[in-house]
Amino acid sequence: MKKSIKNALVITAALGLTAQALAANKIEIFSWWAGDEGPALAALIKLYEAKYPAVKVDNATVTGGAGTNAKAVLKTRMLGGDPPDSFQAHAGQELTGTWVVANRMEDLSSLYKSEGWNNKFPKAVIDLISYKGGIYSVPVDVHRSNVMWYVPANLKKWGVSAPKTWHDMLTACTTLKAKGVATPLVMGENWTQQMIWESIATAMLGPKGWNDLWSGKLKFTDPKVVSTFSMYGNVLDCANKDASGLSWQQATDRMLAGQAAFNIMGDWAAGYMTTTKKLKPGTDFAWSPSPSTSGTFIMLADSFGLPKGAKDRPEVINWLKLLGSKQGQDTFNPLKGSIAARTDSDLSKYGAYSQSAASDWKKNTIVGSMVHGAAAPESFTSGFGSINDAFVSNHDARAAAQSSQDLADKSRIGM
Ligand code: GAL
Repeated sequence: MKKSIKNALVITAALGLTAQALAANKIEIFSWWAGDEGPALAALIKLYEAKYPAVKVDNATVTGGAGTNAKAVLKTRMLGGDPPDSFQAHAGQELTGTWVVANRMEDLSSLYKSEGWNNKFPKAVIDLISYKGGIYSVPVDVHRSNVMWYVPANLKKWGVSAPKTWHDMLTACTTLKAKGVATPLVMGENWTQQMIWESIATAMLGPKGWNDLWSGKLKFTDPKVVSTFSMYGNVLDCANKDASGLSWQQATDRMLAGQAAFNIMGDWAAGYMTTTKKLKPGTDFAWSPSPSTSGTFIMLADSFGLPKGAKDRPEVINWLKLLGSKQGQDTFNPLKGSIAARTDSDLSKYGAYSQSAASDWKKNTIVGSMVHGAAAPESFTSGFGSINDAFVSNHDARAAAQSSQDLADKSRIGM
């Protein structure tokens, strides 16, 4: 045996380190949680580094809300045979309909078994990440898409209350404009606009109708669905015209600054307002379900998996173990604005917003978000962006419904 190897083994044994810990000592974690939406991931990584000090973590982020940019980079890397060790993907078809069907992910069923996770995560969430009997990722959070945010003191000043229905929203919009509030509802770039349609469609079709859209039972050309676009058009008239240039954080900032009254955004906005901006939930900002969706929770979950060919497999397994653990989830989620995907989290660690979301998660009807990968195939979600752009400029509800049906057919929804 070479002297240097022998020395390394002696040192390894003396320090009580495993050969594995010495040999493979890095991990790349790929996500879009950069900058001011990074603190929750940073806290989880800190925990990982404390547990595995020999491992160098590369927190590789590609900025851009909802992963619009990150997903494109990921695609290039996956197709080029250079997968990140572990990457963020939404539970649902965004993961299963792309990388799992293409046989690019490892089945994690044995990890679920050894960690005792099969009864620690809700069955519905496990179903979202399962395919043909295998389980393909570990969910780190559950987010809600249908939340409306506002600043109570501003609403008081303007003499309006948080609208309970979309019709109330239109009424509030008229009142606010008359009082000189130019932007009753602030929105940001394309995907944040789609979230408004998602909320309207879920409200007007009901949870069953929403699910029927994604199973193909309800056609987009159905008059009920056309009406959702008409309502969306009316709501867009209450919104800012410079939306395409705004990130979701900039849209939130306008609401906080009193330049706008309402913002419909997933509850990562709660993380941004409490963790990054240090605001107090209930006082500095408040929330309610987006209009006409009380009792319905549009969910999405961020998850991480293990791509086949990952260079640092043992480190990824430890990473997945951590993010699926109670400690990992209760470190990450209170900062992120989400709730734990696990059912046994310690809610005393969470702020007022997440506590209310956790209670709704238990008692509401749960449906999946289209915009964030849970309900529809990735091909539909990515194609819907252009339909949204066309609709924002022409407000043609019938055309939007027809193009959506064409896209659904192309994406083989219901086939
Ligand atoms: C979602 C993601 C959230 C948050 C948000 C804004 O798609 O699930 O965790 O990152 O995008 O970027």
